[in-house]
Amino acid sequence: MTTSAPTFRHALGHFATGVTVVTVEYQPGKIHGMTANSFTSVSLHPPLILICVDHRALMLPFLHEQKRFGVSVLKSHQRAISEFFAQPGLYDDPDDHLKLRYRRSPTGIPTLDDTLAQLSCTVAGHHLSGDHTIFVGEVESAHVAEGHPLLFYRGRYHHRALK
Ligand SMILES: Cc1cc2nc3c(=O)[nH]c(=O)nc-3n(C[C@H](O)[C@H](O)[C@H](O)COP(=O)(O)O)c2cc1C
Repeated sequence: MTTSAPTFRHALGHFATGVTVVTVEYQPGKIHGMTANSFTSVSLHPPLILICVDHRALMLPFLHEQKRFGVSVLKSHQRAISEFFAQPGLYDDPDDHLKLRYRRSPTGIPTLDDTLAQLSCTVAGHHLSGDHTIFVGEVESAHVAEGHPLLFYRGRYHHRALK
């Protein structure tokens, strides 16, 4: 016996998360981003994180091909960035629309500038799991900034402490 999809979704929505954007340079100079809240810390030695990627996401083949990705943790006022990167498909010039700037790790992995934290990762493993693939990333470099996190809880964004 398994729970129904609506019950599962409703129950899991009660787990509050931050919001990240996963970025991959899929062609030289071309960066694709995907909003993800499945981000979790896995291990300290070595430093590992994971993200879960829907099999329908355009991001999936890019991660398999490039094996390098950035994770940017959004600040409380960056809901528009989350919504933008939650739209399916490729886009032209997100930088123009949202005034986004990318920063590069020492090895050239792109993350979003002016976010709360940025991690540059290489794919250390991937595991098929239901309708998602779990990508484990080894963190090459990390950078943090001042600010407050954007939160996601029960299907909605929150900008302050939850009640
Ligand atoms: C708050 C939030 C969190 C999300 N987390 C994930 C996630 O962890 N994994 C995932 O595959 N999709 C997640 N999504 C959905 C993707 O962002 C969305 O399907 C996106 O369009 C996929 O991009 P792509 O197909 O252009 O690569 C999330 C969406 C939102 C709004």
